Amino acid sequence: MARRKKIYEGKAKILYEGPEPGTLVQYFKDDATAFNAEKKATIEGKGVLNNRLSEFFMTGLNQIGVPTHFIRRLNMREQLVRACEIIPLEVIVRNYAAGSICKRLGLEEGMQLPRPIVEYCYKDDALGDPLVTEEHIAAFGWASQQDMDDIVSLALRVNDFMSGVMLAVGIRLVDFKIEFGRIYDGDFMRLIVADEISPDSCRLWDIKTGQKLDKDVFRRDLGDLTDAYSEVARRLGVLPKMPHGKPTLIN
Ligand SMILES: Nc1ncnc2c1ncn2[C@@H]1O[C@H](COP(=O)(O)OP(=O)(O)O)[C@@H](O)[C@H]1O
Ligand SMILES: [Mg+2]
Repeated sequence: MARRKKIYEGKAKILYEGPEPGTLVQYFKDDATAFNAEKKATIEGKGVLNNRLSEFFMTGLNQIGVPTHFIRRLNMREQLVRACEIIPLEVIVRNYAAGSICKRLGLEEGMQLPRPIVEYCYKDDALGDPLVTEEHIAAFGWASQQDMDDIVSLALRVNDFMSGVMLAVGIRLVDFKIEFGRIYDGDFMRLIVADEISPDSCRLWDIKTGQKLDKDVFRRDLGDLTDAYSEVARRLGVLPKMPHGKPTLIN
């Protein structure tokens, strides 16, 4: 393959210059990190699964008119995406209490929240991605009020879409995190869903058993992470079945 310019290497993905201007190639690594990268491991097959799952969710979002950066999958580990200016926020939507909100507010894990709650964290690894409010976002100019209105309504649409898709296969969408970016069509700026949507960035629990099918399996040493992600992919029909019944990941 021709040498490509590496633009950025993060914890879970690598960005390369894309084949056309305004595009990037997003490569999904097998690396897993948790607790602000204090815990690290390489988990064989994770990148392949997340590439497929992010393709699946972003394609669905594009189809219902929620714009995303996804253009097309290139191979097992790579997808072509639109390059955008990332807004330095992690936008979190919570339907049930889990993770940091339990500690912060003393909530019992698994409690249904009165309504979906949208939170923002400032994307800065050195600071541990601290929780911020719309006041900080406006004061420091990370996003305008119009951007924030768009972000909330898009995030809630993503939540409804993802909740429905998951419910249909017996999985509860507890919470998720997404990132948004700006793209420019001439003078016109719009926001799109960027980065990834995968079990690395969602909490997914089996509705019947409560079994965790997301990155908490790694965070809390609950078993084999690729088994959990494969189960999500299998239920969604993202993994074609081989005659012997085992899922396959060939292209
Ligand atoms: N379409 C895009 N255009 C530009 N940057 C993107 C796009 N999608 C994702 N990114 C950025 O690329 C990086 C993806 O790599 P990742 O391993 O998740 O990094 P990090 O360790 O910073 O979370 C993230 O910093 C994300 O904000
Ligand atoms: Mg990331």
